Amino acid sequence: MKIKELIHNKLSDIFLMVNEISEGLTSNNSPYIKFTFTDGKDSIKGVMWDKSITDIPDISLGSVIKIRTIPKTYKNTLQLTVLQCRTITKGDNVCIEDFIKTSPIKPLDIYNELLTRVSHFENESFKKVVTKLLEDNKDKLLYYPAAKVVHHAIQGGLLYHIYRMYKSGAALADIYKYGIDTELFISGIILHDIGKLNELSSNENGIVEDYSAEGKLLGHIVQGVIMLHDAAMELNIPAEDEMVLKHILISHHGSEENGSPRKPMILEAELLNKLDEMDAIIYQFQDTLSNLEKGEFSENKFFLKNIQIYKHY
Ligand SMILES: [Fe+2]
Ligand SMILES: [Fe+2]
Repeated sequence: MKIKELIHNKLSDIFLMVNEISEGLTSNNSPYIKFTFTDGKDSIKGVMWDKSITDIPDISLGSVIKIRTIPKTYKNTLQLTVLQCRTITKGDNVCIEDFIKTSPIKPLDIYNELLTRVSHFENESFKKVVTKLLEDNKDKLLYYPAAKVVHHAIQGGLLYHIYRMYKSGAALADIYKYGIDTELFISGIILHDIGKLNELSSNENGIVEDYSAEGKLLGHIVQGVIMLHDAAMELNIPAEDEMVLKHILISHHGSEENGSPRKPMILEAELLNKLDEMDAIIYQFQDTLSNLEKGEFSENKFFLKNIQIYKHY
């Protein structure tokens, strides 16, 4: 059974992976467990009343479990009331890989394509520093998501986000041409979120357990600049090249309110900021649309200024 097949008020048994787990207390002081589950394609929230996480010691983030549930529609969205749950056994014949939401393009293929493109750079500084950071971080890049929840929160999601920006960025650079150093621009695209490898702590399924302490205290922009700085020092990159690339990293959120200490002040940075925002928004639309039926509205999307997305096809 899949999430899409669940029906309001119908008792069902379903296998799902735990993507988020936390606990809370009702106003009567009784504990409950909150979940987000995935079947590998769709996600759904769930709640288990009168239980604490310690009551289900075998179940944690990333566990694939069997759930007995009565799905309920709440505020237009189906949620699961979990009645019973247990971890899977061999007899269930369930394959864990089927539950992992993963990049539609193989992370290793993206990684190799980026590395090959960079190997053809004429600018030695960008070639050396991007290659080093890609190679030094290969293991994590192959499974890291781009975020905990908002966009590209899937296995290999960070590389997939970079890839979409790289493809659309290459087209834009070709159209606009004047004032754009394509190699600097591509380097910025590849490195702009590299600090996320230290900001988030993700397991190999691309599920983020939490932000790291460094992530909470420094954030991925500062962490990315530190990684770039260290690599540039080691490689003896000319100061001007290092500076403009750092500028792209620190300005990629566009404004102070969004966490960037400087607004974009070079054309490549301006274009990258727009592209970054565009890709995150498009992903959220696509992810939401894939869970809607024709003629249906989504719930309010907090990260998209609270709009409801409509599926017209
Ligand atoms: Fe970012
Ligand atoms: Fe980004």
